[in-house]
Amino acid sequence: MLRSLLSSFCYSAAPSSQESQFVPKINVTNRNAVALEVEATNGISVMENIRDLDASVDAICGGLCSCATCHVFIDADWTAKLGTRSSEEQDLVGHLSSFDPDRSRLSCQIMMSDELDGLTLTVAPEDF
Ligand code: FES
Repeated sequence: MLRSLLSSFCYSAAPSSQESQFVPKINVTNRNAVALEVEATNGISVMENIRDLDASVDAICGGLCSCATCHVFIDADWTAKLGTRSSEEQDLVGHLSSFDPDRSRLSCQIMMSDELDGLTLTVAPEDF
C-alpha cells in the first residue's frame, strides 16, 4: 500500500523520460554580420540571452532601461508580436542615431518565452 502511494506520487511528480524539454531559439545577426542561433532561456530578457555572444549587445546598465546599449533591430515578421515600446524605452531608443521606428527595440525590455521561439533580430551598431 505504502509503496503504491509513493509510486503514484513519484510518478506524477517526475517528468517522463520520453518527454522532451522544449527550448526556444533566437536567431541573432551580430555586429560582424554573423548569423547565430541561440538556445534561449525563458523568464529572462532577450538581452540576457544574447549578451555573451561575440559582437553582441553591451548592455552596460544590466537591463535597467537606462543605457540603450542593448539596442537591436527586430525582424519585420516579429515586430507586431512584441507589442509596442514603453514610454521609457521609447525615450531612450528614440534618441539613437541608428533608431528605426519600425524595428528598434531594447532587448532588455523583451521577456523571453516559448511564444518567441524563432525570434529574429540584428544587433544594432554601437551608437556611442
Ligand atoms: S541593458 Fe541598458 S537599456 Fe537595456
